[in-house]
Amino acid sequence: MHIGIVGASGEVGRMMIRVLEEHKIGIEKLSLFASKRSAGEKIKFNENEIVIQELTKDSMMKKYDYLLFSAGSSVSKKYASIAAEHGNVIIDNSSAFRSSAEIPLIIPEINGQLLQNYRGIIANPNCSTIQMLLALNKLHQKYCLKKIVVSTYQAVSGAGHSALEEMKNQRKGKSGNTIFPKKIDLNVIPIIGEILENGYSSEEMKMQNETVKIFGDRNIRVSATTVRVPVSYGHSESIFCEFKEEVSLESVKQILLNSDAVVFHENEIITPLDIVNSDASHVSRLRIGFDNHSINFWNVANNIRVGAATNAVRIMEKHISLN
Ligand code: A2P
Repeated sequence: MHIGIVGASGEVGRMMIRVLEEHKIGIEKLSLFASKRSAGEKIKFNENEIVIQELTKDSMMKKYDYLLFSAGSSVSKKYASIAAEHGNVIIDNSSAFRSSAEIPLIIPEINGQLLQNYRGIIANPNCSTIQMLLALNKLHQKYCLKKIVVSTYQAVSGAGHSALEEMKNQRKGKSGNTIFPKKIDLNVIPIIGEILENGYSSEEMKMQNETVKIFGDRNIRVSATTVRVPVSYGHSESIFCEFKEEVSLESVKQILLNSDAVVFHENEIITPLDIVNSDASHVSRLRIGFDNHSINFWNVANNIRVGAATNAVRIMEKHISLN
């Protein structure tokens, strides 16, 4: 297979390369693209050094088996569309196409079947949404979700490599912030993305809209508060959810223990540092909510893996197996 990665020098792009190696996918050729800034740099893939090329329109007109994009919305809007017009299958990590009705928004463990006989752009969901829905999927199937109230504690790497640099510089005592609206180191910033007319942030609306689209259920109501915290890798979420059906703690535990890509921890407290190399969505601190129709739990996952690169590679594997 010939695979291309757009945004290969970034946080997610580099992890895509690692996950492709780990999954031992039969790749004959890997082409890496980024901006002019990193063209010429080399990245290792399976003992070979691959030179990053500058992304151009011409490069997107060629034929690939799969193109994985993680270079931001504006790059996806311009270049993923060209690649799709030339018959390629694109897995796009940006938010550019997620809300388009004709574009599948995929978490393979939940709605991967939509990839059967599909070619073109496939959207990879928002990082916080992926880890939350992996944890909730089988519970929703059994008990039918009505409401989710979630507060996130999102890692700095979610805003890209330069955001990590900004936090590192602040830690060394340098002042100044360009990526975040306030100093992030030793602080907590209760806004991710921009504030919209309804008072919610764009990140909060992604969690709301993408949950409805992925579960294919307009009746689920989601209220999110998304917060940036000075953690390098690993998003945490405090999740309260209410179901139509009655739940029992024991049966919720059993369902979580049998959910794909989910690890349930009965007596442990799980933090971002505990799950750095994990490809699972971790659930701990499970307890009953107000009554037997609701639960509370703590959810942690590596945002660059589960929330981006691993989900993209799993989409690719699902597409291969279905087509
Ligand atoms: P570059 O490193 O050359 O700037 P991150 O999310 O960590 O900030 O990474 C973003 C990725 O998207 C990087 O690989 C970056 O390349 C790439 N990128 C950003 N803007 C462009 C662009 N206009 N054309 C191609 N790649 C881009």
